[in-house]
Amino acid sequence: MDRREKFYITTPIYYVNAHPHIGHTYTTIVCDAIARRQRMMGMDTFFLTGTDEHGQKIERSANAAGCSPQKFVDKIAAEFRQLWDRMKLSYDDFIRTTEPRHARGVQALFTRLQEKGYIYKGSYSGQYCVFDELYVDAAGPGAPCPECGRPTETVHEENYFFKLSAMEDRLLKLYNEQPDFIRPETRRNEVMAFVRSGLRDLSVSRTTFKWGIPVPGDPKHVIYVWLDALANYITAIGFGSDDPKDKKKFEHYWPADVHMIGKEIVRFHCVYWPAFLLAAELPLPKSIVAHGWLLFEESKMSKSRGNIVRSETILDTLGADPLRYFLLREIVFGSDGSFSFDALVQRFNADLANGLGNLSSRTLSMIARYFEGEVPYPSKEHMADDQAIATLADDTIEAFHAHFEQFQFSRALETAWALVSAVNKYIVENEPWTLAEKPGQDARARLATVLYTSAEALRVVTALVHPVIPESTARIWQQLGLGDIGKFDLRQLRWGQLPIATKVGKVEPVFPRADNSTIQRMQQMEQERSTVSETKPATAEVQAAGTAAQAGQPAAQAATGSAFAAPADISASVLAAAEASSAQPTVSNNKITIDDFLKVELRVGEVKVAERVKGADKLLRMEVDIGSEVRQIVAGIAKAYEPEKLIGRKVVIVANLQPRKLRGLESQGMIVAASLGDEGQPVLAGFLEDVPVGAKLK
Ligand code: MSP
Repeated sequence: MDRREKFYITTPIYYVNAHPHIGHTYTTIVCDAIARRQRMMGMDTFFLTGTDEHGQKIERSANAAGCSPQKFVDKIAAEFRQLWDRMKLSYDDFIRTTEPRHARGVQALFTRLQEKGYIYKGSYSGQYCVFDELYVDAAGPGAPCPECGRPTETVHEENYFFKLSAMEDRLLKLYNEQPDFIRPETRRNEVMAFVRSGLRDLSVSRTTFKWGIPVPGDPKHVIYVWLDALANYITAIGFGSDDPKDKKKFEHYWPADVHMIGKEIVRFHCVYWPAFLLAAELPLPKSIVAHGWLLFEESKMSKSRGNIVRSETILDTLGADPLRYFLLREIVFGSDGSFSFDALVQRFNADLANGLGNLSSRTLSMIARYFEGEVPYPSKEHMADDQAIATLADDTIEAFHAHFEQFQFSRALETAWALVSAVNKYIVENEPWTLAEKPGQDARARLATVLYTSAEALRVVTALVHPVIPESTARIWQQLGLGDIGKFDLRQLRWGQLPIATKVGKVEPVFPRADNSTIQRMQQMEQERSTVSETKPATAEVQAAGTAAQAGQPAAQAATGSAFAAPADISASVLAAAEASSAQPTVSNNKITIDDFLKVELRVGEVKVAERVKGADKLLRMEVDIGSEVRQIVAGIAKAYEPEKLIGRKVVIVANLQPRKLRGLESQGMIVAASLGDEGQPVLAGFLEDVPVGAKLK
């Protein structure tokens, strides 16, 4: 085993009920940049990622797709892995929860919890959110999930329980004694408030479906998917194995130094996970770091909202480094941040093409032209501005490290780019091209100093930002004549180490400028891909979720007594919901109760954008502001309404319908309309008085 100090970092393991998008890529890139930097700092680094493949949500998605769960998960897990490989993400292991090594470890953990007296048998009667795989305590039938707002399902089951309530004090002690256990501070405060409000025992097994890891000795039960999933962090490094090599590996790498997660899964990681580990008497991770969400068109990028952007589109046009740079530079780590193609291209041109790219190509081509491709000897007589660059470079090294260590990636990059700008300015002010034309030793010596200073600053920046943009910096390093950047020890980086007479390599542009056509190409690719990507598993996810979440709810039309401008091809999920609802006890003689009606969330919305959907003459795509957010709604009203006339119009939206995909576009709700004649001509519901956007109808 490696004798160096170790560093173990993990991503969450991603659910395989949806294709990867740049939200998942964001977390993985952040971890990759941290892991690469740790390796450059001489640490024995282990970077783990993988996929979360069990649970009711996945089983339903597989059923809806008409294939076995295993076949279903194999396909999407492979997509994640292929994408990470295409992006050259430097993970050391990719764990799948359907692997035997994982099942063995999860069962070992369960048995250990049993042996320590933390597991007992009981029964759970209450609500469950299948989407978040979350028990929602103290809520009534149909209550919305506190995390995602989807209706919860009622579960009555015999379960194994984990004594979470016994862990309150120990957890609070942990948060108090290790302030860095949860980062950032805001998340820590939320978690502490949650634990202080009291913990109830947690059901850790399910009996009503099969797709999971059996409870040892009681295979009627499968282990709760979050206990299964969280354990990946230890099973991947050998927990539960009898092989001495695995045991050693576990002892070496555990505890993790950083579990990187999105903010929506803080509770699972910061409450349940340490509680399981404390109960099992295993060491705790050093730090759980939560980042914010990547937003697209103002809401969280997610499959169910239908507002995702695929990484492949950016890889096919600009490449991986521009995406990596953008995500780390543009998003203030910890906060939510917006993604847009315009902003991506703007950053790319300003910082990479004009900034670092320009510094690299002009410095290196002038060395090639004026000094036959050899780094020149700087004159002993420095001018103030040469010294200023040297000082700034040393300060930049220090500040960059400090920010990076604190997960302040955008500030670290800002610092590095302040150096890039300063050197570009220095070049412009010193006009090396004019110096080259001037006769005499003095001009020649000055030219040498200016180019040495520029090349040395380029080296410093290149080394610092290599973990963030590995491919392009490896090329710049080669062009600087320094060989393999992977071998560079970042701990040694100081001003003045560029060897004189280094022979620079062939100078080639690293970041060719992008323009508007690049933006259009990306947008078009996304549109085309989303149409094509209505593959079985993806569609099935929405349908399965819809079927599950809406079962027990009345069909929307019946509930309101109005006709809804439903898309021409009414979805299987809505039909299923209608069928399911007719079997509910609350529906008798075609009457529903007031409670049933109140389950339908009707809101006033204002149409902000309306346009025809290519190739579908009945459909309009609209963006409707419903107060709390802007929803994309696709409705079959194109024959009755000109899109332009709808803009600014107040409409009524069913706001809590499961999303549904039409012609590749996600419809996040329905617009309410009367339906006239045999043709069902839609007439939109509206108001005579002015009503505020977001107002509820009841
Ligand atoms: N399977 C669980 C995690 C189990 S870990 C033991 C899960 N999976 S997930 O597929 O929903 O992925 C969650 C993670 O993907 C988030 O925590 C976050 O890291 C990343 N993201 C998914 N969408 C995202 C955004 N829109 N923005 C930023 N990160 C996002 O939860």
